[in-house]
Amino acid sequence: MVICSAPGKIYLFGEHAVVYGKDAICCAIDLRTWVTATKSSGTTILSSLGVTGLDFDIHPYISTVVEEMRKLVSFTGIAIKVDSNIPVGSGLGSSAAVTVATIGALNSLFECNLTHNDIAKLGHKVEMKVQNNASLTDTYVSTHGGVIKMSNCKKLPLIECGVVIGNTNKLSSTKEIVNDVSMLRLEYPQLIDQIINIIGELPNIGEKHLEKKNYGAIGELMNINHGLLDSLGVNVKELSNLVYATRSAGAYGSKTTGAGGGGCMFSLTSKDHVDNISKAIIANGGDSLITNTTNCGVNVESKYENC
Ligand code: PMV
Repeated sequence: MVICSAPGKIYLFGEHAVVYGKDAICCAIDLRTWVTATKSSGTTILSSLGVTGLDFDIHPYISTVVEEMRKLVSFTGIAIKVDSNIPVGSGLGSSAAVTVATIGALNSLFECNLTHNDIAKLGHKVEMKVQNNASLTDTYVSTHGGVIKMSNCKKLPLIECGVVIGNTNKLSSTKEIVNDVSMLRLEYPQLIDQIINIIGELPNIGEKHLEKKNYGAIGELMNINHGLLDSLGVNVKELSNLVYATRSAGAYGSKTTGAGGGGCMFSLTSKDHVDNISKAIIANGGDSLITNTTNCGVNVESKYENC
């Protein structure tokens, strides 16, 4: 039996622009998914979504991983159990985390010798198969951990101030929102391309401030990024309410993370403002998650032979 975990992520800068080949900075966070995989005669998958066999509707990511791993190694069946503290479908990379943790667990259980880069690439392939479209960002960050600048996959220093996430609990579809942005771009290419270009510049400026741990400036850049996401039409009232409330509560900066349309925002804050920010999120109808960035990517937590 193997227990393997992988982290979720937030976008410090650059979601949506990354779809058009621009840079982004993404951070692995201390919210994780744990996958327990045990050799078995049949295949079962147990998660908060229910108990199934291979099921491409209820457990599409895990089922696709099992299908892909069978191309690398032959096995009769597998029992998989999922535990997670990453909210599902809310821009925190829950699907990448379960995909990467499952690949990591099977890789260790069947001794496939996949490297971290192999795991990230296979994870991306699985996300592409399930979603039809996905950037490498989520699976890369979940596999390697840390603060990563895409598109050159450069590892940057960890963020050492407080990170507080606000969940609107409003589900949204990344695919639909990415499509909405592409329609807006078709209608107003001369405007939207410029907005995307500006978003794509934020990671270059942000990288320098990250190296100097200048979190005040990073917060200002996050606020600019949130405004630009607003002009792409991906923010909703619930997200922006949390963003403004947390700024008033003393955050360095606050922005939507991920596709938008619902899901989550986050704030960077000094450690002594964490509780205030968290209270502001709750007072404005959100769920608050206090977390940190982490260098720990995919990780085999334990392995017991003969299972
Ligand atoms: O909401 P999420 O975590 O799926 O993030 C989507 C980020 C986008 O840039 C909008 C799309 C992508 O694939 O990068």
